[in-house]
Amino acid sequence: MSAVASTRSAPGKVILFGEHSVVYGHPAVATPVERTLTLTATLHDHGPDTRRKDPRLEAAVRTAARFFSFSPRRITTSIASDLPVGCGLGSSAALSVTLLRALADLAYGGPDRAEPLLERATAIEAAFHGTSSGLDVAAVALGGPVWFRRAPQPHATPLPIGRPFALVVATTPRERSTADQVRRMRGQAATRPEALDRHFTRLGALTRAGRDALRTGDLPALGLLLDEAHGVLADLGLSTPALEHAVTTARAAGALGAKLTGAGGGGAVIALAPDNAPAVASALRRTGYGAFTSRVGATARLHPQEM
Ligand code: MEV
Repeated sequence: MSAVASTRSAPGKVILFGEHSVVYGHPAVATPVERTLTLTATLHDHGPDTRRKDPRLEAAVRTAARFFSFSPRRITTSIASDLPVGCGLGSSAALSVTLLRALADLAYGGPDRAEPLLERATAIEAAFHGTSSGLDVAAVALGGPVWFRRAPQPHATPLPIGRPFALVVATTPRERSTADQVRRMRGQAATRPEALDRHFTRLGALTRAGRDALRTGDLPALGLLLDEAHGVLADLGLSTPALEHAVTTARAAGALGAKLTGAGGGGAVIALAPDNAPAVASALRRTGYGAFTSRVGATARLHPQEM
């Protein structure tokens, strides 16, 4: 019995601006974090007749295998990661992108440039979150800050950063899943459409202003915009006492701005701390949060063709 294997790595992500509003057609900005998931996919000649214990991983492998006409039963996977899981930091997007790339290696001996990676990775990620906008896989796949729009079709473009900076990422256990949170917003869209539209339009405007501050490297302005975006997300009911406490702790420790990131309902907070990341991270750790520092704009980015 023979087998071939491919190993691929991808980072996690944080959303700087536009979570939830991106689902309704507004733009968003996301960036990878310096934490990595590594996946090895092995294609066996015969057998081993595998089914994975985790039904979500099983569904993801089945979807991915179909793109390459592989039998999912001939594929085994192993995953190593220093990315906190279940905090909205893109572990399922990283898994989807690495799985797709590893299977493309096994099928074609390298990246499959002819096929739409974002679309396919988003379809694989549905095994974890249901339908998603594609924002998370775009940030993970591109390997640098991205400007993303879902409509008229998912489209990601690299976003140049005027000045690299440090973010502190604080994590708390999730109280609700991304799918639950997206469903809650859908409920509000049905019951109070004007209020939701007003909030999402504001988030769209903050996303555009945030993109400009990132381009020019105006970090004080960026901090204020992150604070305001957090306020809008909290008004939408997406924050929790633990997220609020993380945001106020980070600001009190000297962060220029802080907000929840991702779907909310627990999960993660980002704090802009260009000159004082260690102090902000220790204040958060002392208060009981997991915290790590990640640089933005300082890591190599893939050209879209290499994705
Ligand atoms: C989740 O990381 C981001 C959301 O906007 C959902 C999505 O974009 O699919 C909440």
